Amino acid sequence: PTPDRAGLLSLAVEAAREGGRAAAEGQSGIGVLDTKSSPTDVVTEMDRAVEELIRKRLHAARPGDAVLGEEGGDEGGDTGVRWIVDPIDGTVNYLYGRGEWAVSIAAEVDGEVVAGAVAAPARGDLYTGVLGGGAYCNGEAIRAAPAVPLELALVGTGFGYESGRRARQARVLGSVLPRVRDIRRGGSAAVDLCELAHGRSDAYYERGLNPWDWGAAALIAQEAGARVGGLHGAPPTPDLVIAAVPELFAELHDLLAPLGADTDG
Ligand code: IPD
Repeated sequence: PTPDRAGLLSLAVEAAREGGRAAAEGQSGIGVLDTKSSPTDVVTEMDRAVEELIRKRLHAARPGDAVLGEEGGDEGGDTGVRWIVDPIDGTVNYLYGRGEWAVSIAAEVDGEVVAGAVAAPARGDLYTGVLGGGAYCNGEAIRAAPAVPLELALVGTGFGYESGRRARQARVLGSVLPRVRDIRRGGSAAVDLCELAHGRSDAYYERGLNPWDWGAAALIAQEAGARVGGLHGAPPTPDLVIAAVPELFAELHDLLAPLGADTDG
């Protein structure tokens, strides 16, 4: 039987809350455990511990589901449901004791994200979305801001950890910054997309994200009225994620495409 979306959402919410609580309790005194793509791409012991806790929670409730997590990789399943988990999105903020980090959990059924929860405990925010069922922050319905011309748009973005990619991202940013109201680099893609869903920014783009960064938050942004995709009609991919209400999406897309915002080098 197809699992019901509300049930998947409540499990995502429980697991994200539980993970968020554990991460918040462990934030002070946390140190770097390991590095990934570069010395600044860090993993703390809490990234791993929180993912472990979430995997256990999900499997206890729904044994047999697949799980894709940032730290623990892909675990196959046979139910048609796959959970996409980022235990701490915004790890650098987390490490520095800043508030802009989140636990992100999405439920995919047969390859389509149908429910998502993004818990940002330090901000007191729990964002949720269900496919066809709207987007919420702490239980209140949210909508993306109405379209504005690109020159008046507050645009969120983020950067990868490798210097080659960053050099390109800096060049792209150099062409975007003079064309928009201003830029924000919050440090958590999941929070950035939820902010967009909440009308607290107008647009967002980033190259180099992974499905766990945008899984839940892209659904939340879409349910709030935003379009989320890549270049030339593509869905969001690691090459590029763009998000904005449709009119502004088109303007930002047309600015980014000729700049090669989806490439390195
Ligand atoms: C990072 C954050 C950041 C984005 C990076 C991501 P992590 O995720 O989402 O905002 O700019 O590209 O890697 O490493 O904190 O889980």
